[in-house]
Amino acid sequence: MKVGVIMGGVSSEREVSLKTGRQMIDQLDRNKYEPVPIVLTKREDLVGMTEGIDIALLALHGAYGEDGTVQGTLETLGIPYTGSGVLSSGLCMDKDLSKRLLLAEGIPTPDWFCWTGMDEYAPEDVEKRLGFPVFVKPNRGGSSIGAQMAADRQSLRSAVREALRWDRSIIVEQYMKGDELTCSILNGELLPIVGIRPVQSGWFDYQAKYAEGAADEQVIVLPAELEARVRETALACYRLLKCSVYARIDMMLVDGIPYVLEANTLPGMTVTSLLPKSAEAAGISFDRLLNLIIELSMQ
Ligand code: DAL
Ligand code: MG
Repeated sequence: MKVGVIMGGVSSEREVSLKTGRQMIDQLDRNKYEPVPIVLTKREDLVGMTEGIDIALLALHGAYGEDGTVQGTLETLGIPYTGSGVLSSGLCMDKDLSKRLLLAEGIPTPDWFCWTGMDEYAPEDVEKRLGFPVFVKPNRGGSSIGAQMAADRQSLRSAVREALRWDRSIIVEQYMKGDELTCSILNGELLPIVGIRPVQSGWFDYQAKYAEGAADEQVIVLPAELEARVRETALACYRLLKCSVYARIDMMLVDGIPYVLEANTLPGMTVTSLLPKSAEAAGISFDRLLNLIIELSMQ
């Protein structure tokens, strides 16, 4: 069976995607599958390069990859692909919309503003409602690219300008001091929870995510009641946002309450990534994880 490993692409996370793709090709079970590397450098590459593959193994992240566009094209071409569908991919990519749905469902998420352009810039509202510091992020982005922490009005302005370089809308999110957790979900089941502590920088930025040893990421065992709360929250978020096959839900645990930061429908699968680490702790090796993702996506 020919598995087209689709990677690269045109988003800010291209480099991360190439790492995810390489790792997937390395680890793909050769007894079952023949990998066909498909490196996209332009959006339109996708259509011409998928001929002859039986399934697309998506190693893309961010715009034109994780946001439902590639999924829609593959649906139209009649090519099966791994992971969540068009609607869920588009929803999860849009932080503002995901957070609105979470709130409507009673799932905690840090308070935020969403601004489209500098004309909506209102630092006094931020100071009054969220306080400082805050996180400023492109609304549709990933890997913390274009994201910054802002400690005062002055740094807020420059952080907003920077985030607007990466997307036409941005979110300004309340900073919640707590324990950062990530919940990997495979086939509707929660894998072991991983706790994250950046070693060098003060928060889990790009460097902390991808440089080896730059963050301490350990499977953690929470007291049973708390673990149940985290599990329920992660699974409720996964279901609400209509994710399928696999996803990773990032959270901040504050005073025993899990606040959802975001859901990732194509989480990183690089050597330093969290979902494979979590799977490994559950006894699922990387190659077996890929087998499961492919098999579940074919159903
Ligand atoms: N956006 C990156 C790839 C992640 O969530 O792992
Ligand atoms: Mg993300």
